[in-house]
Amino acid sequence: MRQPSIRRHLMVRVLGALSAGALILVFAAYALTLGEIDEVLDDGLRQTALLLADRDLAGALPAGPVEHRASSADTESKLVAIARRRDGSLLFTSEPEMDLRFEFVAGRSLQTARDARWHVFTVIQGERVVQVAQPVSVRRELAAESASQLLFPLLGLIGMIGAMLVLALRRGLQPLSATTDALAQRNAASLAPLEVDSVPKELLPMVRTLNDLLVRLAAAFEAQRHFVADAAHELRSPVTALQLQVQLLERCRDPAQRLLATQELAAGIARTRRLIEQLLYLSRATADESAGEIFARAPVRLGDVARGVVARWSAEAERRDVDLGAEEQRAAAVEANEAQIDMLLSNLVENALHYAGPGGAVDVIATELAGAPAVRVIDNGPGIEATERARVFDRFYRSPEAVATAESGSGLGLAIVKAIAEKHGAVVSLHSGAGGRGLEVRVVFPKPA
Ligand SMILES: Nc1ncnc2c1ncn2[C@@H]1O[C@H](COP(=O)(O)OP(=O)(O)OP(=O)(O)O)[C@@H](O)[C@H]1O
Ligand SMILES: [Mg+2]
Repeated sequence: MRQPSIRRHLMVRVLGALSAGALILVFAAYALTLGEIDEVLDDGLRQTALLLADRDLAGALPAGPVEHRASSADTESKLVAIARRRDGSLLFTSEPEMDLRFEFVAGRSLQTARDARWHVFTVIQGERVVQVAQPVSVRRELAAESASQLLFPLLGLIGMIGAMLVLALRRGLQPLSATTDALAQRNAASLAPLEVDSVPKELLPMVRTLNDLLVRLAAAFEAQRHFVADAAHELRSPVTALQLQVQLLERCRDPAQRLLATQELAAGIARTRRLIEQLLYLSRATADESAGEIFARAPVRLGDVARGVVARWSAEAERRDVDLGAEEQRAAAVEANEAQIDMLLSNLVENALHYAGPGGAVDVIATELAGAPAVRVIDNGPGIEATERARVFDRFYRSPEAVATAESGSGLGLAIVKAIAEKHGAVVSLHSGAGGRGLEVRVVFPKPA
């Protein structure tokens, strides 16, 4: 398909409209002129007919030959005059070669004779009928000739307007190429907004939108840079720890100590591996929507996912002596990516198990809050201080209390939760648990349309 073009579109429209206008003008001129000519020539017919009616045409052939006897066919007006008796016999005709016969209709009439249409004026004087006729085509030709004289000036005008349009468009579209050039200079390293001062009004909305996009892109790039820097920084500590553990292992001679060091090394490797997996997951969860199948969505029943997650964590809950249960207060379904919702709940349950501590209780409740599908994960652990609540969603943030516990972690769990929630338009909020103790994490999904 041909690329649409503003220039071509405008040219076609404007020149098309002008040509149509010119045509209408020429036709109007033709119709008006024809009307005028009719009026004038009808009057001429009448006058000629009355003049002839005054004459005695009975013996009416010219006395002698006229020097330049012009046939009516040679004259511009092609008038024919005929006089007959009432019975139709010819008294006089200006066109003896042409056998023209018209009906005797007094006054103006339009008649057909010899395959042509004629304007006829008839004067009936007792026994004598005088008729003056003129072919209709004569008047049409006259009108067409006069109207066509308009055509050339009009064509010239259209051509001139076309040329002016080409120039104006070239000038008018100039800022578009300037903007394109400016945009071509942008890249990952320089995402500065485009200059808007010299941009014409019509382009301003587009340039503003582009600028918004550039600002968002710059922020996204900045976030990526931070993410990579943070990730590298966070990976350095466990890898350094691994290195120390390997050195320790090398020095260990005692088999029992060696076994212990090996186990610690394995645990360190498992932690590092988990961190890498979390990082990967987070980078994917924040990636572009179009990135593929991990974002495929379908109706997901929150109760089902909650039961699945709880079943998966139940052995760990038992090992930690935490009472873990799932409950479906209202059957709530959301349009979501099931694997991601599973990951979100899994992270919340893991936190609750970790921080509730032995003897604690954790409830996962699928429900509806004010008509919106929601999940609540409630534990009766130490909870999170109000001052900390905004920060725990930051990547790599762990509260000092958490760092002080024996629980290992990298501070990515809630960042992943937040990223997944945002992808689904859901809102995550932190509340105190029952009786002001513990923590309740609420994930509220958008109301179904
Ligand atoms: N249920 C909870 N009770 C008390 N504090 C919590 C709870 N959940 C999260 N936190 C606090 O929020 C912080 C961030 O949690 P997040 O899940 O992001 O990281 P993490 O659990 O420390 O590490 P990771 O999940 O990456 O292994 C935790 O370090 C902890 O201080
Ligand atoms: Mg966690």
